[in-house]
Amino acid sequence: MNYDLRGRDFISDLDFSIEETEYIISLAMELKDKRKSVLKHALLRDKVLAMLFFFSSTRTRGSFEAGMAQLGGHAAFIEPGTTQISHGDTEMELGEIYGRYFDGIAIRHCDWGEGNGYLNRVASSSIAPVLNMQCDIYHPHQCLADIMTMLELFDGNLKGRKVAVSWAYAESYLKPISVPQSLILQLPRFGADVILSHPPGFELMDDIVREAESLSKKFNTGFEICDNMKDGCENVDVVYAKSWGPLVTTSDEVKGKEMQDKHMNWIADEELMRAANDSAVYMHPLPADRDVEVSRSVLEGDQSVVFQQAENRLHVQKAVMASTMSD
Ligand code: CP
Repeated sequence: MNYDLRGRDFISDLDFSIEETEYIISLAMELKDKRKSVLKHALLRDKVLAMLFFFSSTRTRGSFEAGMAQLGGHAAFIEPGTTQISHGDTEMELGEIYGRYFDGIAIRHCDWGEGNGYLNRVASSSIAPVLNMQCDIYHPHQCLADIMTMLELFDGNLKGRKVAVSWAYAESYLKPISVPQSLILQLPRFGADVILSHPPGFELMDDIVREAESLSKKFNTGFEICDNMKDGCENVDVVYAKSWGPLVTTSDEVKGKEMQDKHMNWIADEELMRAANDSAVYMHPLPADRDVEVSRSVLEGDQSVVFQQAENRLHVQKAVMASTMSD
């Protein structure tokens, strides 16, 4: 069944109903097949997406830009430092003006306490849909790619599958909490059981966890929280282990780093993978701190599906853009 998503924003994972989300993923699978078969699929001919990045990116920029070209349109990469945003252009001006120039406005703004509000304020002034390329609260396109990957791996059905969403140590920087938050919201809607593990102090946002618990009740799935990485990964089908900063506890980077450095043993290594099911897969949105967050042998080993995840970013985003930006 087709759903009319024209003009709709995609900022939170729950902006699309479960049926609409399933439709997006099935369209993404169709577009993936078409690309593989070199079949043209110019669903957005002459359409233009503005991409505004307040934070660096490898995959998100590449996949949105390539996706727009493959759909017959164009993506304009806009570095905020080259705009007049710092000289007074507000979210209202961006929404009003870019909404008139472009057919969609995609924004990455991960600053804690700011990003999501920024996207919503642009959206409230824009006639063009606003797409979230990651904010401080959600990373919805990453999560769609993750769900699509799991569906491909588990014969299209996640009911009863156990997914460990685990914190892992990183030394590079305090990473956003948007990926685990999106996962715990979206996975129950697809029937998967979630085991969320993190050390004390690395809690996710209260209202997101409460929403995830309520969704797990609604969809009759499991939802547990534990403070031990190995226990959290016991007998699971998916080990999704990545780092995030203790942002809910402190916004002080030095204090956050001190808290983080107490848990260097939270690494996704071969021993951890042995706690999971024999056929379990390892997932990570990338970039990863090799041999710190995840051992090189796991990240580059047979159980890792990180490149399939990264590829699926392209296909789900094309499905979202084709659905929200078409006439
Ligand atoms: N996973 C992800 O969003 O990658 P980038 O930060 O490189 O875009």
